[in-house]
Amino acid sequence: MLLTLEGLDGSGKSSCIDALRNASAVPDDTVFTREPTESWYGEAVRRSIADDQADPLAELFLYTADHAAHLSETVRPALDRGDVVISDRYSDSRFAYQGATLADAYEFADPLAFVREIHEPWTRPPDATIYLDIDPETAAERSGATNKFETASYLESVRENYERLIDHERERFVRIDTAEPLEDVAAQVIDAVETLL
Ligand code: TYD
Repeated sequence: MLLTLEGLDGSGKSSCIDALRNASAVPDDTVFTREPTESWYGEAVRRSIADDQADPLAELFLYTADHAAHLSETVRPALDRGDVVISDRYSDSRFAYQGATLADAYEFADPLAFVREIHEPWTRPPDATIYLDIDPETAAERSGATNKFETASYLESVRENYERLIDHERERFVRIDTAEPLEDVAAQVIDAVETLL
């Protein structure tokens, strides 16, 4: 089973992942992973994130290359062994974030649909996705606006894209409101994962 965690920067994903690592409901051999990955593809992605002038289409393909390697090197082998995989960000991050960057820079009629289409023939969709919902102002504030993606106006567009993805596939998503204290959010994430497993 492949579970993914998604949300805007500052939504508390990392703390929830830490809580899941220690949760008794999560099997010991669960593979915890993330995108961008720690591979050299992920390294290329991080260089692009740090470059305010990076071309958005080039950046999309770097992230997508990282996803391809992540699938072949980590996700598919783990699923083939029968392990549970929990990924901190996955393809929905591309649909939502690059859907928003491309909307600003290129004349695609529907950037989100374009990004989804280039994944469709070869990706492995998640079985379930936990979406940590946070308002863009708080997200930008909490993440400290350390990179070009972390401004409230950009995160607003990213959030709209996540909403579109949820509308499109309601049965896959579990939405968790992050307005509550972090312990409560983490407890809800653990409950949701327990139910899904
Ligand atoms: P992440 O490593 O989750 O952020 P953090 O620095 O908080 O650990 O992700 C890095 C940034 O990359 C984040 O702003 C979201 C963005 N991102 C995309 O734009 N597209 C993607 O496909 C992914 C996986 C991340």
